[in-house]
Amino acid sequence: MPAQHNLHLLPQTRQLRALHTVVRDRHAALDTFVLHSRRIIRLLLEAGLDQLPFTEHHVTTPVGATYRGLRPTADVCAVAVVRAGESMEAELRDIHPGIRIGKILIQRDKQTKLPHLYYSHLPPGIAGSHVLLLEPMLATGGSANAAIDVLLKAGVREEHIVLIDFIAAPEGIRAVTEAHPHVKIVVSSIEERLNDDAFMIPGIGDFGDRYFGTT
Ligand code: PRP
Ligand code: MG
Repeated sequence: MPAQHNLHLLPQTRQLRALHTVVRDRHAALDTFVLHSRRIIRLLLEAGLDQLPFTEHHVTTPVGATYRGLRPTADVCAVAVVRAGESMEAELRDIHPGIRIGKILIQRDKQTKLPHLYYSHLPPGIAGSHVLLLEPMLATGGSANAAIDVLLKAGVREEHIVLIDFIAAPEGIRAVTEAHPHVKIVVSSIEERLNDDAFMIPGIGDFGDRYFGTT
């Protein structure tokens, strides 16, 4: 896969691989799947927030010294691609209790694998915001591209969109970066490929079904 400067793969630490090992196991119980997914989601969201702009900010420490730090400056909101994207909301609210969260309902047709947009409800003023787009699975990239198009139509700038993916296929990354080269992608694992059913290999199965217990 060619190097892409807008693609941010989480450091592949042993700890992250151990978390992935639990959630990839087809026998993982629902509570185990949720716990370990949420730990990965937390890492993804922190990495996503790191993509937003910062300004220098100095504070005085308890020992009277100056810490030359940073402060985030962007107005940020989130948009979850329903349904799987909603799995990221609780973790995001823990980090950022006041964040506004819009919804885009997109479902992939089981036969054609093409995304169908049913509904969207975005926070007012989103055009001026940076947007964390919550979409755990990037398989063909069709759903993510459809969601990005909804945001662009609402006036969001392409370079202000940070797509938060749990796992992604090279095909999906290519589809998004070709259609929307300025969108930033944060992902915890890049899979080998898609199979003939447009499922990722080795993959995780249907993330939404596994997270919400609807398999
Ligand atoms: C799954 C997944 C992504 C999409 C990825 O959603 O959650 O949204 O497919 O596939 P793509 O990159 O090929 O478009 P699905 O429509 O199965 O519904 P769900 O989110 O309710 O599980
Ligand atoms: Mg989905």
